[in-house]
Order: sequence, then C-alpha cells, then structure tokens
Amino acid sequence: MAWNYMLMLSVLCWLPFTLALPNRISARATGGPPIRSHSTSAIHTSFTGTPTVVGALNATSVGSGISSLGVAPGATTYPSDGKLHQPQPAPFVPGGGLGTNGTTPVYNAKSDFDYESLSLALYQEWIELDLFHDGLARFSEADFAAAGLTAEDRYLIQFMAEQELGHATMLSNILGAEAPAQCTYNYPYTTVPEFLDFCQKLTRFGEAGVYGFLPHLNSREAAILLTQSITTEARQQMVFRQFEGLFPMPVWFEVGVPQSWAWTLLAPHISYCPENQTRLAWQNFPALKILNQPNPARVNGERANNETLTASGGMNVLKSSNVTGSAACVNSTTVGESCHPGVTRNRTAPLSFPGRRVSLQWESPGQPVGPNNSYITATTAGTPKYVLWASQLNVTYSPLMGGGNNSGMTIQPNISTYQGDPAVNGTVFIAITDDNVFVTPFNISMVNPHIVAGPALYQAG
Ligand SMILES: *[C@@H]1O[C@H](CO)[C@@H](O)[C@H](O)[C@H]1NC(C)=O
Ligand SMILES: *[C@@H]1O[C@H](CO)[C@@H](O)[C@H](O)[C@H]1NC(C)=O
Ligand SMILES: *[C@@H]1O[C@H](CO)[C@@H](O)[C@H](O)[C@H]1NC(C)=O
Ligand SMILES: *[C@@H]1O[C@H](CO)[C@@H](O)[C@H](O)[C@H]1NC(C)=O
Ligand SMILES: *[C@@H]1O[C@H](CO)[C@@H](O)[C@H](O)[C@H]1NC(C)=O
Ligand SMILES: *[C@@H]1O[C@H](CO)[C@@H](O)[C@H](O)[C@H]1NC(C)=O
Ligand SMILES: *[C@@H]1O[C@H](CO)[C@@H](O)[C@H](O)[C@H]1NC(C)=O
Ligand SMILES: *[C@@H]1O[C@H](CO)[C@@H](O)[C@H](O)[C@H]1NC(C)=O
Ligand SMILES: *[C@@H]1O[C@H](CO)[C@@H](O)[C@H](O)[C@H]1NC(C)=O
Ligand SMILES: *[C@@H]1O[C@H](CO)[C@@H](O)[C@H](O)[C@H]1NC(C)=O
Ligand SMILES: *[C@@H]1O[C@H](CO)[C@@H](O)[C@H](O)[C@H]1NC(C)=O
Ligand SMILES: *[C@@H]1O[C@H](CO)[C@@H](O)[C@H](O)[C@H]1NC(C)=O
Repeated sequence: MAWNYMLMLSVLCWLPFTLALPNRISARATGGPPIRSHSTSAIHTSFTGTPTVVGALNATSVGSGISSLGVAPGATTYPSDGKLHQPQPAPFVPGGGLGTNGTTPVYNAKSDFDYESLSLALYQEWIELDLFHDGLARFSEADFAAAGLTAEDRYLIQFMAEQELGHATMLSNILGAEAPAQCTYNYPYTTVPEFLDFCQKLTRFGEAGVYGFLPHLNSREAAILLTQSITTEARQQMVFRQFEGLFPMPVWFEVGVPQSWAWTLLAPHISYCPENQTRLAWQNFPALKILNQPNPARVNGERANNETLTASGGMNVLKSSNVTGSAACVNSTTVGESCHPGVTRNRTAPLSFPGRRVSLQWESPGQPVGPNNSYITATTAGTPKYVLWASQLNVTYSPLMGGGNNSGMTIQPNISTYQGDPAVNGTVFIAITDDNVFVTPFNISMVNPHIVAGPALYQAG
C-alpha cells in the first residue's frame, strides 16, 4: 500500500504539500507529513475597505440553466434479483463499480465541479479551525464552567480544532498550489452557550454541504478522503449538540444540501482573505431570518421571540443574554427540563412541533457579503410563495402567507420520513421559494433557481 502512495506522490510531484494519507510507519504524533501553515493567534476584525474584485467566479461561457431530462437510459435495467449478471474480474469480486479496474488512484480534482466543491469544503475547514480556537481563547475557564463544561470538555474542543488542521491540509494537498488560504473571520457570539450554538449550526451546514456534492464528484479518489474527514465533522456536530444539552441525534438520516446553501451561510462570517485568494463560483442567496427561532437555552425554547444574534445571518444563532434564572435550562436538575451538557437529554417541552407558526423576514438581493465584501447576494426566483423544508431524506414545502415587504409566515409541516420518524427535527434548512418543485436528495440543487432567500437554519429540535 505504502509503495502505491509513494508512486502516486511522484506522479503528483507538482503538489506543494505531501498528501496526508494513512501510513502505519508514522503513527506517532511526531512523525507524518507536514500540516499546512496556519495562524494560531488570529484577529477577528471586520472588513472596512473596498473590494478589488466583485462577484462569484464565472467561466467565459455561462449557460441559461439545467433542464430536467427524466430518467437516464439504462438507469433501471439492472435486474436487482440477487444473482450475478456480469463476468467477475477476479475470484470473490463482482463486476462493476467505479475506480475498481486496477488504475492507480490519483487524488486530485477532475473537473471545475470538483475544484469548486473541494475549495468550498476547504473554506469551511479553515473557519472551523479558527472558530474552535477562538472559543477557547475568548472565554475563560469560569465562563465554560458556568455553561457546565469542564477542562476535559475544553480539551475536546481543542482536539476538534486540531482535526480541522488535518482536514485543511488534506484538501489543500488535493487542490494544489492555488488552494484557498486561511482568512480573517468575524463571530457574533458573546457567551459560551452562543458559541456552542454557533459551532453546532456551522458544523451542521459544513456536514450537510459536503453530503450534497460527495456523490456528484468526478474524482472518486477525492470523494473517499473527503468522506473520511466529513464523518469526523459529523461527530463534532453531535458533540456540540451534547454540549448544548440537546438530544444528540433526533433524526434517522442526516440531510445533504447544495454548495450554494453552505456558501450562503458561511460567507457572512469571513471578513477578508489574503491578496490573490482563489475565489468561488457558488451563489450567495439573500439572508433569511427566523423571527421566532426556537432557543435551546430556554426551558420553553419554543416560546422564544426575536432571540437570535443579529449578525448571525441565516444561521439564526441563539442569544442567551436574556435567558436567566428559571427560564434557563442549563442549571435545571429536573429531567425533561435540564439542558446541562450531557450524553443525551429529554425535553418535555419540544423546541418545535408540526403546526407551529414560523415568522420569517428576508433581505433583498444585491447586498455585498463574504470575504472583502466581494460577493453579491443574488436570486433568479420570482414571487415568494412557499417555504422549503430540507430535512433527512425529504424536501417538502409549506405555503407562505404574506410575502410582501420581505416577510411572511408559514406553518411547520407534519411529515414523516418513515413511520415513526418525524422528518423535521434537529437543525434543518428552510428557504423561501417561488415554486414547489419536486426534488430528491440527489438533485436538490435543481431548486436553486427558485430560491428567493435563505437557507436559514431552523432549530426544530
Ligand atoms: C461574470 O462575472 C462578471 C464579474 O462579476 C460579471 O460582470 C459578468 O456579468 C458575469 N457574467 C455572467 C455571464 O454571469
Ligand atoms: C479503468 O477505469 C477508469 C475510470 O475509473 C477508466 O478511465 C479507464 O479507462 C479504465 N481502464 C480500462 C483498461 O478499462
Ligand atoms: C448556572 O450555574 C452557574 C454556577 O454553577 C452560574 O455561574 C451560571 O450563571 C448559571 N447559569 C444560568 C443561566 O443561570
Ligand atoms: C482583502 O482585504 C485585505 C485587508 O484589507 C487585503 O489585505 C487583501 O488583499 C484583500 N483581498 C483581496 C482578495 O482583495
Ligand atoms: C498576487 O498576484 C500578483 C500578480 O500575479 C503578484 O504580483 C503578487 O505578488 C501576488 N501577491 C501575493 C501576496 O501572492
Ligand atoms: C428584535 O430585537 C432587536 C434587538 O435585539 C430590535 O432591534 C428589533 O427591533 C426587534 N425586532 C422585533 C420585530 O421585535
Ligand atoms: C427579555 O426577557 C424579558 C422577560 O422575560 C422580556 O420581557 C423581554 O421582552 C425580553 N427581551 C428581549 C429582547 O427578548
Ligand atoms: C424521554 O422521552 C421519551 C420519549 O418522549 C420517553 O419515552 C422517556 O420515558 C423519557 N425518559 C425520561 C427519563 O424522561
Ligand atoms: C425531536 O426528537 C426528540 C427526541 O426524540 C423529541 O423529543 C422531539 O419531540 C422531536 N421534535 C419534533 C419536532 O419532532
Ligand atoms: C401529524 O400527522 C399524524 C399522522 O398523520 C397525525 O396523527 C397527527 O395528529 C398530526 N399532527 C398534527 C399536529 O397535525
Ligand atoms: C408594507 O409596509 C408598508 C409600510 O410599512 C405598509 O404600508 C404596507 O401595507 C406593507 N405591505 C404589505 C404587503 O405587507
Ligand atoms: C419523505 O421521504 C421519504 C423517503 O424518501 C418518502 O417516502 C416520503 O414520500 C417523503 N415525504 C415527503 C412529504 O416528501
């Protein structure tokens, strides 16, 4: 195995870094390929200058859209009857599969789609690295203790930051010399519970944003390495839920969303990037605010009104400063009420429920956003008519009431993914759309031309 990797490295000698691949010889912490250089004492200021470039990266030729083609020829011809229908290339090896014919893996991008998707993932890993360090630097031991977190818990956050360094290095190695660099970020949180909620939500769209494109990558080789990092990120998301005193995994499936959704949620927290930073081709949609976003810091989280951090964009992060005394669940010792950090917590009063009225407000397009204010929010959609809910395996719509003046109201839908699995739970994605187009997990990005605003992260449970 190690020899194959060596061979591959010599093929890819133009790479600026060595690939961080499994290597039994260098299992000790002092060995192994180098990590990418990064800042550990980052500042967190906003951008005040004028952008030198404006707009998403685009090619010389830009088409007018992707139309639905129906089922591809041959997509349903495999008999699926439990018998073998193809010659076997070797004993115990069934025919078929991609990348299974013996060609040497080359861990690089193989299309613009790959490069842009992996670059987006790298932007995400960089912010996570900075974010986890920032929480530890910004808050004291006493602050963490007041939120119920110990020295062991803080070490876990530190370890998670170190994992991000590995992920950022791996993606940089795949992308090569122009891989996006670490930027300067801004965060709206002022308390530990707000920090934890910010992390829980940021890792949610980091994870979901990768699931959305993983199966579409041309580079199967990049896909396996990215899978190996995103499964780690999924564990981080669950840990932050546990730190927040939420039920760790209230769903049967984790959702996948398009790249532009992740970029829309991420970009507002990047203040500026270095000169010559590699730009992205993805869309930034107008921000969507949930006026009655459920607040996990409250005993009655569902009753929260106007309780998100203003500068948290579509993430709609909880504001904890007004949640005090017996209204706060962190110090409660009552089972069903307590949200003290723990492996799992029951909430007798759920954060949301089918039939709940959800009040929404959104920005108009054309706002500068993201690194150096150099991206512009945009939509190609018409009149707002629906609220899209993306959760688990489902994309469903509820009618939007109102919609004039960039605001409206909807009713949380009552759907199940399978019997016994209410679809809308955990941290879900909602968006304002002009149509209720039917999409499924593999073609969810076909809804992008219909998005008026969003996504926003709705704290359903
Ligand atoms: C490509 O981007 C440039 C710069 O933002 C913009 O002026 C131009 O309209 C874009 N072209 C297309 C076809 O989107
Ligand atoms: C093996 O598969 C790769 C794609 O994974 C393909 O490019 C290549 O042509 C195949 N080689 C042979 C000998 O079939
Ligand atoms: C919870 O208790 C800790 C002391 O253990 C205290 O510092 C903190 O302020 C309390 N939190 C709330 C929201 O009351
Ligand atoms: C963004 O702004 C920073 C700080 O002003 C500047 O150093 C950097 O060159 C700018 N980046 C780009 C890509 O223009
Ligand atoms: C940015 O690119 C320009 C033009 O290629 C080059 O002159 C300059 O040195 C680059 N700046 C950095 C910081 O790499
Ligand atoms: C929401 O709260 C902010 C301050 O936190 C305030 O400026 C704004 O007017 C409030 N909006 C509503 C609709 O209550
Ligand atoms: C803060 O809480 C108090 C009492 O629960 C409530 O009257 C007030 O409206 C809240 N303020 C905000 C901005 O939510
Ligand atoms: C937790 O909630 C579940 C589902 O509502 C319930 O069946 C169980 O009894 C609860 N457990 C405790 C300890 O409250
Ligand atoms: C989400 O799941 C938790 C745990 O099973 C449950 O207590 C809660 O009622 C669910 N919420 C919704 C909105 O279904
Ligand atoms: C949700 O749907 C289930 C099954 O169709 C039904 O039993 C339940 O009453 C519904 N809940 C609401 C709030 O409509
Ligand atoms: C929009 O806001 C204006 C002024 O606040 C108000 O007069 C008008 O009725 C509102 N329109 C809708 C459709 O809500
Ligand atoms: C939710 O997803 C399941 C599994 O794909 C599907 O059977 C069900 O019809 C979906 N429900 C809705 C309302 O889309």
